[in-house]
Amino acid sequence: MRRTVIAGNWKMFKTVDESVELVTALKPLTSNLKPNVDVIVCPPFTSLAIVANLLKGSNVKLGAQNMSEQDEGAYTGEVSWKMLKSAGCEYVILGHSERRQYFGETNELINLKAKKALANGLRPIICVGEKLDEREKGVTEQIISTQIKGVLGGISSDDLKKVIIAYEPVWAIGTGKTASPLQAEEVHQHIRKLVAQLYSWNVAEGLVIQYGGSVKPDNAAELLAQDDIDGALVGGACLKADSFASIISASPSR
Ligand code: 13P
Repeated sequence: MRRTVIAGNWKMFKTVDESVELVTALKPLTSNLKPNVDVIVCPPFTSLAIVANLLKGSNVKLGAQNMSEQDEGAYTGEVSWKMLKSAGCEYVILGHSERRQYFGETNELINLKAKKALANGLRPIICVGEKLDEREKGVTEQIISTQIKGVLGGISSDDLKKVIIAYEPVWAIGTGKTASPLQAEEVHQHIRKLVAQLYSWNVAEGLVIQYGGSVKPDNAAELLAQDDIDGALVGGACLKADSFASIISASPSR
């Protein structure tokens, strides 16, 4: 059975002191996780090392929000896989819609980043999702297929076992509009079927697919109860320890 993975994407929020405060409050609330549940926090780069230190001996894992596709070099402002690993990260979010929208990230670039992360022992959480006009035009599945094929190109079945896909409909991010559990489940099923075609049913069955977009304590349980929704990528509601903890405890015991 697939694990349920709840990740918090802090985006560009929290100074170092605020990060310490949030993680210190979160630790006791996550000391008794259900055995099938994993929890990840993804603070900004500047807080990774200190958060890693605070998380030692806890049930919470650490991820970053982005990573360069290069190993090292004269790339001002970029952060490499080696830096993330030395700061204590196990995971890295790649291709978030905000990276695609504001920083021009393409499926090709996200694919290079994913391959670089996998080759170096970081587990990518790769984001896909349609925009509102695409949903309204009825081309959601086409958009998602193009994104999935693009970001997974050249990734082996063995490596795919380390990948998490996050389905985040762009129109649901930070808007308070959540996809209904059924709308989300439909896309998750589509992703799983596509991965089965590209790889095998066995690989597709094992793939963790998170939902993201206005996940809150009051809608988490019904989203996470869907067969193909294996976790959540949480934005706004992960910035407070108690609301993130309520989402974590809404995970079904499978
Ligand atoms: P919100 O939960 O704030 O809608 O953000 C979702 C998201 O983008 C997580 O990566």
